[in-house]
Amino acid sequence: MNKIKVFRSSIFHCIENSGSVIASYFEDGLMLVYDGRIVEVGEYSELIGKIDTDTNITSFKDSLLMPGFIDSHLHYPQYKVIASYGQNLLEWLDKFTFPEEQKFDNKDYASEIGNLFFDELIRNGTTTAMAFCTTHNTSVDTFFTIAKERNLRMAGGKVLMDRNAPVKILDDDNAYVDTKSLIESWHNNGRLSYAITPRFAPTSTKEQLRKLGDLLAQYPNSNDCKGVMMQTHLNENYEEIQWVKELYPEHNNYFDVYDKYKLTGTNSVFAHCIHNSTDEYERIADSGSKVSICPNSNLFLGSGLFQFDQLEVYDIDASLSSDIGGGDSFSMFNVMNQAYKVAKLGGYTLSPIRAFYLTTLAGAKVLNMDDCIGNFEQNKEADFIVLDLKATSLIEQRLSAVKDIEQLLFCLMTLGDDRLVSEVYSLGECIYTKMEA
Ligand code: GUN
Ligand code: ZN
Repeated sequence: MNKIKVFRSSIFHCIENSGSVIASYFEDGLMLVYDGRIVEVGEYSELIGKIDTDTNITSFKDSLLMPGFIDSHLHYPQYKVIASYGQNLLEWLDKFTFPEEQKFDNKDYASEIGNLFFDELIRNGTTTAMAFCTTHNTSVDTFFTIAKERNLRMAGGKVLMDRNAPVKILDDDNAYVDTKSLIESWHNNGRLSYAITPRFAPTSTKEQLRKLGDLLAQYPNSNDCKGVMMQTHLNENYEEIQWVKELYPEHNNYFDVYDKYKLTGTNSVFAHCIHNSTDEYERIADSGSKVSICPNSNLFLGSGLFQFDQLEVYDIDASLSSDIGGGDSFSMFNVMNQAYKVAKLGGYTLSPIRAFYLTTLAGAKVLNMDDCIGNFEQNKEADFIVLDLKATSLIEQRLSAVKDIEQLLFCLMTLGDDRLVSEVYSLGECIYTKMEA
């Protein structure tokens, strides 16, 4: 069987060249995919001669084909927590999030929400994400089972909490053994990766963090196998930071807690980081730890503003994320829109190319997946989305005035949402087509 697939469209992706990010753009482009992987991408006129004349070409008119979005931090059980009114982080957790997460000991409920969650991700053009599940093993099995059924590259893990949360969602003595067996079942199982997931320092005892650091050390990166990831929250909210000081008085700062328990490093992703001290920025950088930036959630919960310039000062690998359900949108267009405004308030202008980088290739780097996704380099997995540049009349009219790819991308990140996403592909197979309005 001939497994070559050919797509013709305007095509955009980000590439990195000795540390600088550039937009690679082909106005009339061609993408060749073989067995789910990228063979080549380039100008139609240059590549058309390389394929047999009878090859079927899928053409997209008035469209932009780009890599699927990568959302480096969100909570799948918070699908129904989204848009919960008027509280700050700690109250919001108690009032809305913890009660909802208690329902995920029920397999049917986990499966119902899991499927809705994946539908919504895909509709918004997100093909990879790293998700928190709940403390229940069943929430994790459900998450990975659905991701596998849908052939998506996903990371996730069981939340770990053994204090300061309702009893129904606190871990029992089996948490360590359960996490280990979930790792054995799901890590590097097809396109799936496991992330050890202590919720945040206030809901874990020191004993739990110590055990998790030891567990993480058992699954390091090696030549033929990627190590287990670690995900948690850091420096999101002033009350949270004060609480950490009280619970861990012997530590210099919040990051120091995770560092002491060996939960930092190149496989560790810290969400938020909006109130980092200088020492914490330095130590995140020195340890090679990664940062997930959550502008929607930080604005929605009134937590604060991320400092984009610090990423560059300290050369920290970071990417954007929705942080559903503290975040109020699954759309990475909306996340880029909010990020641009947060950057502006901090006296920094987030360029559209950087914004799209932060939702594609940078996401892949944060999740240690840049060897297989994030852009259209040869042999990467063909996870891509097709954007309808005439999705709304305003977008169509506004785009008629743009002069280059940067202006086009800026309009998309400012005006765009799920209506832009007309098709979604995983490993070169179409998994979503938008219904005509
Ligand atoms: N910190 C601890 N848990 C959470 C959560 O579920 N969402 C957010 N935004 N922050 C947290
Ligand atoms: Zn979060």
